[in-house]
Formats: sequence, C-alpha cells, structure tokens
Amino acid sequence: MKHLLEEVQKIFEAEQFLAQPEELYRPIDYTLRLGGKRIRPLLLLAANQMFGGKTDDVRHAALAIETFHNFTLLHDDLMDRSPLRRGKPTVYSLWGDNSAILSGDTMFALAWRYLLRRDHPRLRDILNTFNETAIEVCEGQQYDMNFEQRDDVTVPEYLEMIRLKTAVLLAGALKMGALYAQAPDGDIQRLYDFGIHLGLSFQLQDDLLDAYGDTATFGKATGQDIRDNKKTYIYLHALQVASPEQQERLRQLFNNESADTEAKVREVLDIYGRLNIREAVEKAIADEFDMARKCLDEVRAEEAAKAPLRELLETLFDRKK
Ligand code: IPE
Ligand code: IPE
Ligand code: MG
Ligand code: MG
Ligand code: MG
Repeated sequence: MKHLLEEVQKIFEAEQFLAQPEELYRPIDYTLRLGGKRIRPLLLLAANQMFGGKTDDVRHAALAIETFHNFTLLHDDLMDRSPLRRGKPTVYSLWGDNSAILSGDTMFALAWRYLLRRDHPRLRDILNTFNETAIEVCEGQQYDMNFEQRDDVTVPEYLEMIRLKTAVLLAGALKMGALYAQAPDGDIQRLYDFGIHLGLSFQLQDDLLDAYGDTATFGKATGQDIRDNKKTYIYLHALQVASPEQQERLRQLFNNESADTEAKVREVLDIYGRLNIREAVEKAIADEFDMARKCLDEVRAEEAAKAPLRELLETLFDRKK
C-alpha cells in the first residue's frame, strides 16, 4: 500500500494544474496540491493491480477520480459553510462562493478530460460507471441538504444518503480499476460491494470525527455537523436512546438556527456524552468494517494480490483524519 501511495503522489506531482485565467486555476491547484488521503485513486490502482493491471495504464483514471472527489469538496464546503479542510482555509472562504462554484465545475470537466486521454476496450463501461457514480453523489448530497430541514429522518434513510454521497465513489473507484484490468464481472461486483461497506464505515467515521476528532489532526472544523443541523447517525442514534426530555431538546437544537452556535455544540456534545453515543457509533463502524472484510474475502484473487486493499482497510479502521 505504501508503494501504491507513492505512485499516487508521483502521478499528482507530475501533473500541471495551473493555467489561465489564474483566478480559475489557482483554487484547483491549491486544492489538488493540499493532498488529503488520496483514498479513491489508491483504491482504483489497488483494484487494477489485483487483476494484473499496470499503473502506467491507469494514471489518467487515478487523476480523474481524485479530481472529481476534490470538485465535490469545493461545492460541499460551500454548501456546508465549512471554514477548514486539510488544515487550510476552504476555497470558498479564501476566494469566494463564485470561485468554489466555477473552479469546482471546471474540475468535473477536467476529470472527464483525464478519462478521455486514453482509449480502452471497456471505455464505454468505465465512463458509464464514472458518470452514474457522479449522479448518485449529487443525489446523496441533495438528501444530505434535505435532511437538514427535516426532523423525522430515519436510520435507513440516513444509510441510503451516505451510500449515495460517499460510498458509491469508493465503490466506483474500485470498479473502474477492475474494469481497466478487464476483471471478470462477478469479481467486479464483489469488489464494488466491498467498496460500499468500506464507504459506509468511512462516512460513519467522518461523522464521528466531526464530533470528537481533533481539528489539528482531522484538518476540518469539529462540531460543523451540529452547527449545520446534519442528521448524522450519531444524532439519530442519540434520539433513539434519549429520554423524552432529551429527545425534545435535541429536536429543538437541530431544527433551529441557534444564535449561539458554540453553546449549541457544547450542549449537544454534553447530551451525547451522557448517552454514551460514541461507543455505540464505534460499534456500528466496526460492524460495517467487518462486512467490508467479508466482501473482500469473497473476491476471487490471490491473497497476495488482495494485500494492499486489506492493509488500506485496516489503516482506515483506526484513522484519526
Ligand atoms: C472527505 O473525504 C469527504 C467524505 C466523504 C467524508 P476524505 O476524508 O477522503 O478527504 P481527503 O481527500 O482525504 O481530504
Ligand atoms: C461528504 O460529506 C460527502 C461529499 C460528497 C463531499 P461531508 O459534508 O460530511 O464531508 P466533509 O466532512 O465536509 O469532508
Ligand atoms: Mg462537508
Ligand atoms: Mg456535506
Ligand atoms: Mg463530514
């Protein structure tokens, strides 16, 4: 996995993101050079190698999937009004809303440009996977926004929302990598299912880190989901185990614009603390990781070929950022 990550870093170092007009490309270069965990290109390369593919043949696809992911972050930070990402100010807070919109849109088109750099016998299926995934991410993002305004969101609705906004992109990256290696259809599907469970656990962790992470390590402002009235699993689970008074108070806090948002964050975290929510969410995360492990077991490939994905899964399991 370390070797794959180095390959991903090299791919990004070798690429030029700056062009004219500078106001359009500066935020793109800023975002793509800030790094991040590079999980999606890693998944794509790992899936590709698992079925005998070569990095040289999928560099452009690794660039595409990460550029697409970073486009979603530019828009997401604007929609969530998030001040920090990867320990640095977000694009919209540095350059304004219009920059986040237009540089983000350009990144989506750049992702397509990267994908079209090379021909491939399965290019139609690859492009279709990419595009259907992009549509699903937008659907998930809309549910996420809709849920801010609702007070009757259920756990299954939440799980479907995070499947769409987050999990399908991890699964789609794996599927694209496997398609480039011309893997058998059954294994592509098994790898996709692995990606869905990995993605669900990944988003559950993200929600937990948003409440309990350390900003210096996590790189994002904590408490943001509480400020934004996000109906996360943490919140929904708290509602299920809370007393009627606590339920009432949580609903109130998550349905209004608070004048003092910091007092709101403190009060919500205090209620979560009393209910031992953190432990319950950690259990849900561990269960989802177990399902991911089982899906990976079922992929028909040499154990040695699966090693990077296993390592990535175990690394993500204890992640703090
Ligand atoms: C952030 O994704 C958006 C979520 C799906 C939670 P990552 O946590 O992969 O962000 P970077 O790319 O590593 O910064
Ligand atoms: C991530 O949702 C899903 C995206 C499509 C970007 P979040 O809003 O939780 O992501 P972060 O926490 O801002 O990275
Ligand atoms: Mg966000
Ligand atoms: Mg969001
Ligand atoms: Mg988040």
